Amino acid sequence: MMMTTTTAKKIAEQATAFLGEAYYELGKSEEDAKRRIEQALEQIERTGYYSHSYEELKHGAKMAWRNNNRCIGRLFWQTLEVFDARDVVDENDAANRIFKHMSYATNSGRIRPAITIFPANHSHNRLRIWNHQLVRYAGYRKNNVIVGDSASLAFTEACQKLGWSGEGTRFDVLPLVIQMEGKAPKWYPLPSETVLEVPLTHPDHIAFQQLELQWYAVPFISDMELEIGGISYAAAPFNGWYMGTEIGARNLSDIDRYNQLPTVAKLFEFDTTTNTSLWKDRALVELNAAVLHSFKKHGISIVDHHTAAEQFLRFEKQEQDQGRAVTGRWSWLIPPMSPATNGIWHRSFDDAERSPAYRYQAAPY
Ligand code: ARG
Repeated sequence: MMMTTTTAKKIAEQATAFLGEAYYELGKSEEDAKRRIEQALEQIERTGYYSHSYEELKHGAKMAWRNNNRCIGRLFWQTLEVFDARDVVDENDAANRIFKHMSYATNSGRIRPAITIFPANHSHNRLRIWNHQLVRYAGYRKNNVIVGDSASLAFTEACQKLGWSGEGTRFDVLPLVIQMEGKAPKWYPLPSETVLEVPLTHPDHIAFQQLELQWYAVPFISDMELEIGGISYAAAPFNGWYMGTEIGARNLSDIDRYNQLPTVAKLFEFDTTTNTSLWKDRALVELNAAVLHSFKKHGISIVDHHTAAEQFLRFEKQEQDQGRAVTGRWSWLIPPMSPATNGIWHRSFDDAERSPAYRYQAAPY
């Protein structure tokens, strides 16, 4: 009882703060805000929770993007498309909503930022998406070698336990796994029209294609919790578009991921016997040039890290003009390549966490 009271009190506080801020930003009168807050508080008193109107949900999801200290792409926070899936009752329905979101966002390459929001955590229809991203490559440990994406080892194993099996290539797309509260998880192969992939070629080194590298077009983060005004949504997959270095300087380059720098260096005949040849740096440049070139060639939205940083600094200015101070985490905002060539490097940021927010949550498997 005590517990419930404390929780309800906290939700009431968060609801008041969020609704006040959101209604102000949406240009509503103080009267309207006051009336809405009273109504929400009354619902919290009665049930322990309150439900967001679509407008509140939509603006809250955008605010959470705007508040995300790790994201360099926040200039576009207002363009987020918000799909309301709080009415889903089963896994098939949820899977179909996700497939629709994926097709909408992919848009044949002209990527559109979007989020689909499933029932809140206090709803009896709450669910979890097990995937870290809706599209991701499997990782297999065979003897002592890893095939595919090492970041997916645990999830790949979980999928296999559920009865899925992959071909065993470096780029097997994992299935979608959805779990309704209190039920066994269900898995679904992703329909081919929901997964756009990009074979990597280099702008002037034709042999690059022999490396047979590829990546998927759209990053859909599906394991973060969205919290808006005290209400949490454990299933709220969202997407933007890629910044090239995420793929070229991390996913394909990290030693414990695809570790392609030695391979690229060999192809370009850089001297890998000494650090002073800067073969790693040179390979990074070529691999990242290939990523940007290939996405562009296939008409798929992507941003380079220089442009993204300029956009971020514009975002900061835009926020200041609105009377809001931007928070940020410097170590995440600087790009993993040539960071000091980039305006963000020379700045510092307040890393305070604001609400609404996207937050990490424990994996359900
Ligand atoms: N860094 C992650 C990846 O490489 C994706 C994170 C979200 N990125 C984005 N551009 N919205 O898959």
